[in-house]
Amino acid sequence: MKYSIITFGCRVNQADSLAIEGELRARGAVAATVEDADLVVVNTCSVTASADQGARQTIRRIVRNNPDVRVVVTGCYATRRAAEVANLPNVTHVVDNRGKDTLVRDLAGEIGLTTAQRFGDGDGACGAALEPGVAGRTAFTLRVQTGCEEQCSYCIIPTTRGHSRSRPMAQVLRDIDLAIDAGYKEIAITGVHLGSYGRDLGEGSSLTALVRALARYADRKGPRRIPSVLFRISSLEPMDCTPEIIDMVAASDSLAPHFHLPLQHGSDRMLAAMRRPYTVSQYATLVERIHRRMPDASIGSDIIVGFPGERQDDVDDMRRALATLPLSHLHVFPYSDRPGTEASRMTDKVDGVAIRERGREVRAIGEQMTRRFRESQVGSTRRALTVDDGWSAVTDNYVKVRLSQPHARNQWILVDL
Ligand code: F3S
Repeated sequence: MKYSIITFGCRVNQADSLAIEGELRARGAVAATVEDADLVVVNTCSVTASADQGARQTIRRIVRNNPDVRVVVTGCYATRRAAEVANLPNVTHVVDNRGKDTLVRDLAGEIGLTTAQRFGDGDGACGAALEPGVAGRTAFTLRVQTGCEEQCSYCIIPTTRGHSRSRPMAQVLRDIDLAIDAGYKEIAITGVHLGSYGRDLGEGSSLTALVRALARYADRKGPRRIPSVLFRISSLEPMDCTPEIIDMVAASDSLAPHFHLPLQHGSDRMLAAMRRPYTVSQYATLVERIHRRMPDASIGSDIIVGFPGERQDDVDDMRRALATLPLSHLHVFPYSDRPGTEASRMTDKVDGVAIRERGREVRAIGEQMTRRFRESQVGSTRRALTVDDGWSAVTDNYVKVRLSQPHARNQWILVDL
């Protein structure tokens, strides 16, 4: 049986797709192009209206090019709009997020797969059977948590991913062993609300405890400058990035000096309307603390422009706030109305032209930040993992560089920037 997987959305979805791919392979399926596949799994996102639309267009295109294919659709859009998805051509199964971890096992008989030959314990979070590069990525993405209990007024994710659930630390460490045995040298730890890791597991479990275990794990396994494995902590809500986590990242060679801390807006009025539980000045204190401890750490952020009620003076506040923050990159998202959310019921919507204009303005600030950060790194020597065709590498502090000579893929090297 030949399969192909298409993934939309966040790193958590990428981790979920890796797990699905690992299960498919363990049951004898082989990777193929979309045109040649018997089965295409489309793992959807629903964070914006265009994410929904992208999934629909993709499924129609797949079927135009491969009229006999079976399409299995899962992910957040499939969870939110199952009936709509089921009506798309060649869709044989719509699997919501609750069924995603056991998708392959549950459908194995119907889609002509054998019993799992290895791995595939059905908890679905790993996919470490895949060697590096198989899904087009050199680093391994491991989901340690899913679901979200937060109340951000614009966000659809709590309804698509449900309440927060964490994978026990022993399972996480076992999956890390598998990923390392399969040849991975960098592992991104991810979750829908990563900061809530462990809260459902009881006494002593927390993200801080997990990060401590990761630092110990890698220190046990390997030496210093060139690590045997580097852990990268994915997006973390500002209120969850504790001083202990910052100290551990600063102290361990095995934790990447890289943070992604979504700010979402640079005006306190807008943060309150978004129900984000911090102020711009608290965020600034956090980012400055990281920057003081680790001047070379990259710190990325997310911004939403055009939230209902946003005025030009909020954007001006944001511009002033961003100018003082030592951030290294910004992801800028135009506000997208998600039916069912609190923000969707707000009446003072910003028109599309203003949203696009504000998006351009904030994106330009992000480009300056990226340039400033990259320039600050010139003259330094950093460890980097070779990716793609071996002519590129990604440093521990998340700078993608072009190399002056090619190397084998998935090797740690030292680069003079
Ligand atoms: Fe999208 Fe769901 Fe991730 S809405 S961003 S795939 S949690």
